[in-house]
Amino acid sequence: MITLGIESTCDESAVALVRNGKEILANCVASQADIHKKYGGVFPEIAAREHIEALLPLIKIAFETARLSEKEIDLIAVAEGPGLMGSLLMGTTAAEALSFAWNKPLVGVNHVDAHLYSAMMEQNTDPIFPCLGLVLSGGHTFLAKMESITHYHILGSSVDDAIGEAFDKVATLLDLSYPGGPEIEQLAVCGNPLRYPLKAGQVKNRPLDFSFSGLKTNALYTIKGYQGKRTGKSLISEADKKDFAASFQKAAFFDIIEKTQKALKSVSCDTIYLGGGVTCNTYLQKLFRDMLPHVKSHFPSKKLCIDNGAMIAGLGFHLFQLQY
Ligand code: KG4
Ligand code: ZN
Repeated sequence: MITLGIESTCDESAVALVRNGKEILANCVASQADIHKKYGGVFPEIAAREHIEALLPLIKIAFETARLSEKEIDLIAVAEGPGLMGSLLMGTTAAEALSFAWNKPLVGVNHVDAHLYSAMMEQNTDPIFPCLGLVLSGGHTFLAKMESITHYHILGSSVDDAIGEAFDKVATLLDLSYPGGPEIEQLAVCGNPLRYPLKAGQVKNRPLDFSFSGLKTNALYTIKGYQGKRTGKSLISEADKKDFAASFQKAAFFDIIEKTQKALKSVSCDTIYLGGGVTCNTYLQKLFRDMLPHVKSHFPSKKLCIDNGAMIAGLGFHLFQLQY
């Protein structure tokens, strides 16, 4: 069964063709990051307009890459949220129109659930449930007990900023460009992670919840001074910025590791599937390997960490199986 997956929740237009929820036949992404850089974040109206331009040509490229025609697909899956309203409308409208014109069934997929599925779709063997899921993206941060590919219970989530959002905001304070996560990772490589004694927030009586807003405030005070404004001049040197990036990244990720350890104990399992843009981070991947050596940590490959159509098509296939 071949599924066409369409993703347009934020600033990536993405289309994929996937066989039986796993085998990726084409996975095409048109990123708008360069367009949004000058605004320091995603400009929603521009994002929606760019999706209109990008989606149909991407669908054509995906079919050419897979050497398939629309007659050979069985299902269309589209990310139906969460995301930017205008961007979502472009993807869902395109999917609805194609479903009608080609007479193919259509299934809506939750974008965050698809991030949880992305590492599973790259495994040769089926996951054993229950296991742990961890989403680290620009809009979401949560730990979940996974009962199946399509069902999970949230064990803990961020009470304020998502981790990717915190990376993006701290990156702006460090005069780095959007998206900030990869920029901070790069800057941190030559920095001293012990220079600034930072710690992520703890939420009273909720040991598996996350809080990153304190780290962000600490960044503002350290970089711009106590009276400093976000748009003000940096008071610290370029070398200090490297140390701050390394210290911030360490503090955020140590918190993730600590809460993952607790969650693994509460679920009594030794397997975790991670997903979302922040899981691209190689320092995070190393920390999981070094600090949780007994745990089977499954990270998606880079092309499936970032927003993509393959995870939408993959999970869409499973949701469709449940319906019929
Ligand atoms: O999953 P994603 O592509 O979009 C959402 O669903 O939000 O995640 C985007 C987020 C951004 O905040 C970006 O800065 C972050 O993922 N990110 C990273 C890295 N690559 C992307 N954060 C830390 N290190 C990275 N290498
Ligand atoms: Zn995403």
